[in-house]
Parts: sequence; C-alpha cells; structure tokens
Amino acid sequence: MRILLFTGKGGVGKSTVAAGTAALAASRGLRTLVLSTDAAHSLADAFGTPVGPDPTEVGERLFVQQVDAQRRFEQSWADIQGYLLQVLDVVGVDPVAAEELTVIPGAEEVLALLELRLQALSGAWDVIVVDCAPTAETLRLLALPEALGWYMQRVFPFERRVVKALKPVLSRAAGVPMPEDTVFDAVERLHAELDEVHKLLSGDDASVRLVMTPESVVLAEARRSFTTLSLFGYRVDGVVANRIFPEDAGDAWRAGWVAAQGKVLGEVEESFAGLSLWRSIYRPGEPVGADALRALAEEVYAGSDPLAPATGPGPLQVQRTPGGAVLSLALPFVTKGEVHLARHGDELVVTVGSYRRLLSLPTGLARHDVKGARVERGALQVRFEERTP
Ligand SMILES: Nc1ncnc2c1ncn2[C@@H]1O[C@H](COP(=O)(O)OP(=O)(O)O)[C@@H](O)[C@H]1O
Ligand SMILES: [Mg+2]
Repeated sequence: MRILLFTGKGGVGKSTVAAGTAALAASRGLRTLVLSTDAAHSLADAFGTPVGPDPTEVGERLFVQQVDAQRRFEQSWADIQGYLLQVLDVVGVDPVAAEELTVIPGAEEVLALLELRLQALSGAWDVIVVDCAPTAETLRLLALPEALGWYMQRVFPFERRVVKALKPVLSRAAGVPMPEDTVFDAVERLHAELDEVHKLLSGDDASVRLVMTPESVVLAEARRSFTTLSLFGYRVDGVVANRIFPEDAGDAWRAGWVAAQGKVLGEVEESFAGLSLWRSIYRPGEPVGADALRALAEEVYAGSDPLAPATGPGPLQVQRTPGGAVLSLALPFVTKGEVHLARHGDELVVTVGSYRRLLSLPTGLARHDVKGARVERGALQVRFEERTP
C-alpha cells in the first residue's frame, strides 16, 4: 500500500492536486482513498459532492473522507480529558472553561491522523492520499511519541505503579482525584498509536509531496518545510509547481507574470534537484469534479507514474565503518552553524533553528561514542566509534 501526503502553504492547490492524484490512481484500477486532515476541508468542494466523516464513494474505486478531528478527538482523548475535567472541577474551574482548557491547540490535527492509521490497517486500500494541513507543523508533532519514548518506557510505568499504590493517600493529601488506571491506559494507547502513525508516514511506502506556486515567498516556505520534514524523518519525493501561467502570447501583465514565474521555477529546480518536479498550469477555471481533477493530474504527471515508490535513500541512514558507523540525516539547505547536536543517553538531540528532534539511536549504536560531526552537501553526518572498555 502506498501513502502520499500533500502539504504546502494555504491556497497553493494542495487539495486540488491531492484529489487529482487520487482520481488518477482510481482510474488506473487502484482502490483509492483521499483523506483530508486539514481543518479547512475542501475535498467536498473539489469533487463537487457532499463528503462525510467516513469514506464516501465518489467514483469507481474512489473514496473521499474529511476526517472529523473533533470526533476522533473525543474518542481517543475522552478518558484523559475526563480525568482532567475532574481535576479542574475540584479546583473550581467552570465546566465550560474546563472543556476548552483540555483542548490542546494543534492536537486535533494530529489526532485526525489516527484515522489514517485505521484506514491503513483496514487493508481496504491500495493507495491513501492525504491532503494535509499547511506547512509541516502537524507532521512534526508526530515525532512527539519518539521524543517521549524514554519517559514512556522508564518513568511512566513507575509513576503508574506509584500512583496506584498511593492513590488513597495521595487523593486525600492533594485534595484532587488521582488518575484511574483507565487514564494511564489511554495515555499509553495514544502514545503507541501516534508512534505507529509516525512510523507509517516515515516508512518506505510513504512519500511527502510539496505543493507550491512559483512565487518567491512560497518557495521560501517550501524550502523550510523540506528541511523540517527531513529532520523529522519524512521522505519528500517531489514538488508540484502549480498555477503556472501558460507561456503563449499575452499582454504586458501576463508577460510580467510569466517572466517572474520562470525565474522562480529556475530556483525551484535548483532547490529541489534530485526530486521529481511536476508542473501544473493555471487553468482558465477551477478544476472541480473527479473528471476535471483527473485531467489535471494526468497533465501534471505527464506519463510518469504518480505512485512510483521513492528512490534513493531516505532521510536517515546508518553506514557501518571499521570500528564504528556514520549516521547521516538529510538536512537540506542547512549550514553547520544552524545545527546543534547533543548526545543524551540513547538519544541524539538534533536542533535546527527552533526545531528539535530527539532521535532514538538504533540499538547497534547505543554503545558507541560520538567522535565528530559535520554538515556536508545538505546532510548532517555524525561519526560514531565503538566504545573501548
Ligand atoms: N491549476 C489550477 N488552475 C486553476 N485553479 C486552480 C488550480 N489549482 C488550484 N486551483 C484553485 O485554487 C483554489 C485553491 O486550491 P486548493 O486546492 O483548495 O488549495 P489548498 O488546498 O492548498 O488550500 C481552488 O479554488 C482551486 O480550484
Ligand atoms: Mg485544501
């Protein structure tokens, strides 16, 4: 099963290209689901038909789903939220305010991706196309379970036992209820499920595609997304440049745009050398409906296989060397001064600007020392040497 994610700045055509790619896949005989996790759902508008929170058939082998984050939120979060509400009630917070306090910003979007996990596990699909929220923020949050891994393995079970043993005493002393076992269960389940989603989306069957329009501001953001996505382990396999003005004759206004876009497209080619670059012209009208979307996708992929597995190494590679190993993490556009590296037990803490990833080292490397690091040709390379006793 193939998973394709489309992300990019608001309004660039993510939903259109995602929907078109799905319509094309379905027309080639694949059981296809296109699912949007963006709270600004527009798949129904793109297909020009109503779409529900469950997979809705819009054509042969073609299903559309606009995940209701609120609904997913309530299912996964209910036990944890219930506990928080209880605590807030005891400390005298108004129930309506409490309800709002227990909703974490950005969390809804992440939980919407739990639906993707269910659909992937269902075995019902050959392809799942995901119409993501703008930028890489959400996908970044999916690395959270990895960052919490150490805590979840070592501290959490201990806390759970302590709370269980001391519950009556603690409740009395603190004056607030202690979490029930179900709360711990819910935390553990959520942690495991989110971790699975991250693995699914950073695995070999998944690729991320950046949708952009040829404008320098949009390009700048696409470049930043490429860096962040790589840092968090996602494999970007292509860029779709959308809304390109056709080059045929026009007035000065049109000629101005064609020239400006041409310049940015040159920079796009340079920035994303090695990735597929697909082009989509600015159509005279909005592509609405499965046929129009498929026609757009056919033109975009221009005979290339839209589902071809990504080639080349993923963002994270470990290579054995005599007496050690070299771990390399793709960090496109990043220079040495922008990267900060620290070793923390079995983890490597990689910071790039305001983004930080706690990378669990492969078990084979845990007993190695970091001997050096450098940033070269868009990749961070960390050299490990076997610890000598
Ligand atoms: N190549 C194109 N030609 C003409 N209109 C387009 C094209 N791509 C997208 N649109 C239109 O632009 C608007 C925004 O596209 P949409 O896919 O909803 O963007 P996003 O999901 O990135 O916010 C929609 O009205 C869509 O129909
Ligand atoms: Mg959209």
